[in-house]
Amino acid sequence: MTLRNDRFLRALRREPVDCTPVWIMRQAGRYLPEYRATRARAGSFLGLAKNPELACEVTLQPLARFDLDAAILFSDILTVPDAMGLGLYFVEGEGPKFERPIRTAAQVGQLAVPDIEDDLRYVTDAVRLIRRELDGRVPLIGFSGSPWTLACYMVEGGGSDTFSTVKAMAYNTPALLHRLLDVVTSSVIAYLDAQRCAGAQVMQVFDTWGGVLSPALYREFSLPYLQRIARELPRGDRDDHAPLILFGKGNAPYLEELAQSGTDAVGVDWTVSLADARRRTGGRVALQGNLDPAVLHGTPDTIRREVSNVLESYGTGPGHVFNLGHGITPDVNPEHLKVLVDAVHALSWPFHES
Ligand code: CP3
Repeated sequence: MTLRNDRFLRALRREPVDCTPVWIMRQAGRYLPEYRATRARAGSFLGLAKNPELACEVTLQPLARFDLDAAILFSDILTVPDAMGLGLYFVEGEGPKFERPIRTAAQVGQLAVPDIEDDLRYVTDAVRLIRRELDGRVPLIGFSGSPWTLACYMVEGGGSDTFSTVKAMAYNTPALLHRLLDVVTSSVIAYLDAQRCAGAQVMQVFDTWGGVLSPALYREFSLPYLQRIARELPRGDRDDHAPLILFGKGNAPYLEELAQSGTDAVGVDWTVSLADARRRTGGRVALQGNLDPAVLHGTPDTIRREVSNVLESYGTGPGHVFNLGHGITPDVNPEHLKVLVDAVHALSWPFHES
């Protein structure tokens, strides 16, 4: 099927575009009243994520309101450990939790790569349904957590402020953590591959917690597994190449290494300028980002000015995908996101004139 809007794919391939493509991490989420209404009908977040029809419905909601250049599958990164048998549940106001966190060698030894088309069928069914409903409007992004970020939740048993349990494992029993990361990485690769085969046209890995590691620990426990994904993940054939984006919160110190991993693109947060990121990655990869999500609390004029600053920082030529530096927060006024999306398209064409 031909895509009616391929700006996002072209930018990821660093080919010329008419204007800069934009999508927003967590674009389908609680800041949208229509999302909250569908979630109420589903009964719970997991009820929503595990129902392909409802997941499809909320995936399309932000596209009805905003002129976005991509859709992202509505799901969660924690579906993979859930399928590995950890028992995912959500406590209202406390976020995700696992009934059976991973702490011992015996528990790590029992983990296996899930059968995706069986245990995670609801995800690939959602991908197939969304592709059908999108009907070529924009490309669909599939995603996974990074091995390190998934290991954080698996070992801590939920979210954490300190990451003391998983970091204690890194310092005291590094071989055990490597065995865990190894099976999680194989699962991530199988999961992304199944999403691509079901119809995902771009794949993004969220390394949300890489930035909590010291440089030595990042280079031992996060980076090598991202590099393995970039090396081993199939992307399809040449005319149907599905690019990989490695997004990392706090990944600025490692941009050179990430750009050399074999990934197609790197997503960055707002703690680095795109000008620096572009210089340091030397045109090897496309760059995605990196407006501070807090800018969405500014006035429309502030939002347009800050969008312009991000575009200016990347500069002229292809290879930029506009996004926030992290997910949109639930307290944002949706009208402000409309200002942002329209500003990206309206203000970026001068950067693409040849
Ligand atoms: O971008 C999108 O629109 C796609 C949907 C998406 C969700 N989670 C939906 C969701 C994506 C890409 C994720 C990824 C995810 N999940 C990450 C990495 C993302 C990042 O920004 O770095 C992480 C760390 C998780 C784990 C997780 N799931 C957390 C921390 C929470 C929030 C808990 C809370 O109550 O604040 C979730 C739940 C979740 N996933 C929500 C959404 C829209 C909110 C749940 C709700 O409706 O109550």
